[in-house]
Amino acid sequence: MKDSNFIKENNAKHMWHPMGHPADSLANPPTVIASAKDSSITDIDGHTVVDAVGGLWCVNLGYSNDTVKEAISKQLYDLPYYSAFSGTTNPAAIEASQMVRDMFAPDGMARVFFTSGGSDSVETCLRLARQYHVVRGEPSRTKFISLKKGYHGTHFGGASVNGNNRFRINYEPLLPGCYHLPAPYTYRNPFNETDPAKLAQNIAAAFEDEIAFQGANTIAAFIMEPIQGAGGVIVPDASFMGLMRDICDRHGILMISDEVITGFGRTGDWSGARHWGVKPDMMSMAKGITSGYFPVGAALSGDKVAEVFENDTSGNAAIFHGYTYSAHPVGAAAVIATINETLRLDTKVNAAARGAQLFEGVQKLAQKYDIIGNVRGGHGLMTGIELVSDAAKKTPMDMSVMKRVHKAAYDNGAMVRLGANNILMSPPLVITDTEISQILSALDAGFAAA
Ligand SMILES: Cc1ncc(COP(=O)(O)O)c(C=O)c1O
Repeated sequence: MKDSNFIKENNAKHMWHPMGHPADSLANPPTVIASAKDSSITDIDGHTVVDAVGGLWCVNLGYSNDTVKEAISKQLYDLPYYSAFSGTTNPAAIEASQMVRDMFAPDGMARVFFTSGGSDSVETCLRLARQYHVVRGEPSRTKFISLKKGYHGTHFGGASVNGNNRFRINYEPLLPGCYHLPAPYTYRNPFNETDPAKLAQNIAAAFEDEIAFQGANTIAAFIMEPIQGAGGVIVPDASFMGLMRDICDRHGILMISDEVITGFGRTGDWSGARHWGVKPDMMSMAKGITSGYFPVGAALSGDKVAEVFENDTSGNAAIFHGYTYSAHPVGAAAVIATINETLRLDTKVNAAARGAQLFEGVQKLAQKYDIIGNVRGGHGLMTGIELVSDAAKKTPMDMSVMKRVHKAAYDNGAMVRLGANNILMSPPLVITDTEISQILSALDAGFAAA
C-alpha cells in the first residue's frame, strides 16, 4: 500500500463515489477509513470513533470476527471461483443455501437464489415475481406496488419501486407499471394522521383503492421494507405489514419483504417480517448475510412460489437470470461462517437491548434540543433522528447544518450517517453499552454545534 501522502493526494481524484456529487468529493475529500476493530473505525490520521453506521447497515458482527475472515481466506485457497450457472456448483454454495433456507424457514422460505448484493436481490425478486405469474398462467400480472420513502437499491427495477425521488428523477423514465402508496410515516403524511394504527388503516385503504383502479389481475407483487431504513428509519404500526399481507392474499399479489437491512437480527428478530408476525412470499437479503465481509445477497422464495417453478412442465420456469458471482464459493463460505457466528452469538438479543438503549438515549436528547423534530426506532439497532430548523413548521434542516452536526459528532467519537435531514444509525449488533453511551455523547456534542 502507498504511503498516506499518496492516499490523501489521490483521494477522490480518480474515483466517483456512490451517492455523492463528484465535484463535492473533489472539494471535500471523503474521510479515509484505514482500519477497524470490534465496533470502531480509525481514519488515516489515527482518529478512532465508534461506528454507529455499521459500515452501511451491514457490519453486524463488528470488524473483528476472525472466524469469518479465516473461512473466507481458506476458501480462497480451496476454490476461489467457479460458476453456478446451471450445470456446475460448489460445496460451499450448497451448504450456505441450506443454512439460509433453514434460518428463514420460520418465515415460510423454501428456496435461495444467491446474488452479489441487495440491489441484485431486489431485482431478482421482482423478475421472479413476474415469471411466477407467467408460469402459473396469468401473464397480465406485471405491475409492482411499493411504499413512498422505501429504498430498494439502484438497479432500474429497484429504483422504479423506490420511494425517494432523489434516487429516481435523474434516471427517468423508470420501469412502467410501478405505483406508490404513502409511507407509514406519522410525522409527515398526506392524511395528517399521527396515530400509527389509524395511519396503517388509511394506507391499507389506499392500497385497496389502487388495486381496484389498476385491476388486481395486472399486479405481480407488492414490495416493502418491514422497517424503512434509508428513507429515515420509518417504523410502521405493528398492524401494518399484516394488513398489507391480507390485502395481497385477497388479490393474488405476491408480497416481497425487502430484508436487506432488517434480515439477520437487526430488528431484534431474525427477520423484519417475523418481527411483525408476517410470512411474505419472497424476501430480498444482503448485508448481514456476510456482515459486509464479502459482497453477497440472496433472493428467497416461499413454498407457494417454489412449487409453481418446480412443478412447471412447460419450460417457462427456466430462470434466465443470474450473475457471474451468484453462489460465489468465497461468498458462500462467508455466508456459512457468518450465519454460524450470528447464531452462536445470538446477535438479535443484543440488537434489541442496545437498540432500546440507543433509542431511549436519543429520546432524552430530543428533550434538550429543539432541532430534533422526530425520533424513530425502538425495534432493534435502527434509529433515525429527523432534524428541523422550525419545530412547529417541521421545516427540514439545511444540509450545511446537518454536515456541521455530523462533523462535530465525528470529532467527538461517533460516525453517524446523514440521509437528507435525517441522522441514521445502525451500529454493529455486537456493540457494547459503553459504546452506545459514546455514540450518545458524540451526538450531544453534534447537536450543540448545530
Ligand atoms: C432495503 C434495501 N434494499 C436494497 C438495498 C440495496 O442494496 P445494495 O446497496 O447492496 O445493492 C438496500 C441498501 O441499503 C436496502 O437498504
